[in-house]
This record gives sequence, structure tokens and C-alpha cells, in this order.
Amino acid sequence: MQRSSATADGKRVFLTGASSGIGLATARALIECGCQVWGTSRQIARLPTGLENFHPIALDLTDEGSILTGFSKAQSEAGGRFDVLINNAGGGWFGPALQMPTSDLREQFQTLVFGPLALIQLALPAMRAASPPRGLVINITSLAAKLPLPYAAAYSAAKAALSSFSATLRMEEADVTAAGAIRFVDVQPGDICTDFNRALHMPDALRDPAAVVADPAIAAAQRTLHVSNHDVDTGPSPDFIAQHLCRIVQAANPPVVLACGTFYQATLGSLAVRFLPARWLERSIRQHFASR
Ligand SMILES: NC(=O)c1ccc[n+]([C@@H]2O[C@H](COP(=O)([O-])OP(=O)(O)OC[C@H]3O[C@@H](n4cnc5c(N)ncnc54)[C@H](OP(=O)(O)O)[C@@H]3O)[C@@H](O)[C@H]2O)c1
Repeated sequence: MQRSSATADGKRVFLTGASSGIGLATARALIECGCQVWGTSRQIARLPTGLENFHPIALDLTDEGSILTGFSKAQSEAGGRFDVLINNAGGGWFGPALQMPTSDLREQFQTLVFGPLALIQLALPAMRAASPPRGLVINITSLAAKLPLPYAAAYSAAKAALSSFSATLRMEEADVTAAGAIRFVDVQPGDICTDFNRALHMPDALRDPAAVVADPAIAAAQRTLHVSNHDVDTGPSPDFIAQHLCRIVQAANPPVVLACGTFYQATLGSLAVRFLPARWLERSIRQHFASR
């Protein structure tokens, strides 16, 4: 994909999950187009070193204290305000929905919904106080927000929740600051070739893909995981999303929702959600995951 040629004029960006995958590619691409990036990881040693205009920040989305400390440190280093907040960090829980422990369900929502919302609450006051008020919040949700995936119930539901919050916040913000001064963009990637699936939390019975299991739900989840791993491993590079994010950061009028991925997933998938009856849509998703 073509690199963005315009510059982002030293915009200060707070980016979660900058240690790998989409976040790491985005940090590099934003710096290349002129931004300063404060990027986070739970383990600061995983963040890039020697990258000019990159500022490493330790932050764990499952720990409210860490969110407050990490963001406050970064915001004061950035001179008291960020131009852009990108809620990118995330991980997923995989397995039969009814076997998911409540503690894992809470953790999934903490990482993908409550943590990002806490960061929005922390970033917005300074964006509103700017003269004139301005700011951009990009929430990386997923195509799973509108195309829920079997054995990823909590992940799909949490992404749908953040997607819904993005729309609501956009409307509410237009009532209190000049319409459009603070923008919310919901970026919905399809499968992207990162380590995301390798970091999945799942029941032990699913860890060994060759294991023979008696539980039919686990056996079906195993087949689904096999197809999902293939989809992720053959998906576009994270640079593809990073270039979209650079363009959004530089755009005078960014889109409100952007589905991005292969033509099959981002375009046909989005059309299928709009036009196919739910029963057909669910049947085709199940057929896809039984296909290999
Ligand atoms: N890859 C895909 O196919 C795909 C598709 C749709 C949406 N997405 C979304 O894209 C985002 C990035 O995923 P990726 O594919 O780039 O995966 P990845 O390579 O596994 O990166 C995940 C990032 O999130 C951070 N992270 C995970 N759990 C965290 C927590 N509790 N607190 C703070 N940081 C945490 C990780 O940092 P540390 O481990 O260093 O702390 C890492 O930097 C996620 O929100 C994911 O849901 C991915």
C-alpha cells in the first residue's frame, strides 16, 4: 500500500498496544508522517527502543491505577494535551461461550471496553479545553462488532459495545463542543496478519490442535480456531491498517466508521450484514468455519 505523503505536523498521539501487530506498525507509520507517539505495553521492554519521537509508557488495561498513572505521565510529557487517542490494545478469549468463566468475561470487557472508555474520559477534558476545542479518538474495534464470530462471543460483544459507545460519544460530544471539533472514528479491521491469535486466552483443551476431545463444543471450537488461524495468517499486513490510520489522523474530515481488510471480509462482509437475513448470514459464517 502507498505511504502517506502529507505530514501530520507534530501531532501528539497516545496509542495503546504499541508493542506488536497493528499498534507497532501504526507507531512507526505515524512517526514517519510527522507525529510524536506515546505508545504503551504492559511490559515496557517490549516497546521499540531508539525510535525518534517514540515515548514508551507502561500501561495495563486490566488495572485502573495503571491506566491513570500511565496516561497522566504521558499527557504531562506531551505538554498537557493529546491531539489523538488511539484505543488499539486488545486480546481475545476463545472457546464455547457457556464455558467461559465469569472472571474471564469481566477481564475481556475490562480490556476492550472499560479500559478504553477510562482513557477517553481522561483524554477528553484537555481536548475540550483547547482553544478552539479539538481532538480525535480512534477506537480499533473489529468486523466482529457487526459479524459476531462463533467461539469468540465475549470478544465480539465487547467490540460491539465499544463500537456502539463510539457512535454515542460522537453524537453527545457534538452537543457540548462545536459539532465536529472532537471526532470519534470506529475502525473495524477484518483478519490481519499479527500475533493476535497466538495471544488468545482459551481453555487448556483447545491448546493442542491435534488433541482428540470428547466434548462436541470443544471439538467444534478446535475446527473454528484452525480456520481462524489460517484467516489471520493469510490476512493483510498490519501496515495496511497503519496506513489507513495515518490517513485518518491527517484527514480534515475523517470517516465515522471504517471497515478495513480484504475485499471479501470488509466489503462483501459489510454488505452481507446489511442485506442478508440473519439466518443466512449465520449459516454462511458457520459454513466458513467448517470449511477446512
Ligand atoms: N489481528 C486481527 O485480525 C484483528 C482483527 C480485528 C481487530 N483487531 C484488533 O486490533 C487490535 C490490535 O491487535 P493486534 O492484531 O495488533 O494483536 P497483537 O499483535 O497481539 O497486539 C496486541 C497489543 O495489545 C496489547 N495488550 C493486550 N492486552 C493488553 C492489556 N490487558 N493491557 C494493555 N495492553 C494490552 C499488547 O501489548 P503487551 O502484550 O506488550 O502488553 C499488544 O501491544 C486489538 O484491539 C484487536 O482486537 C485485530
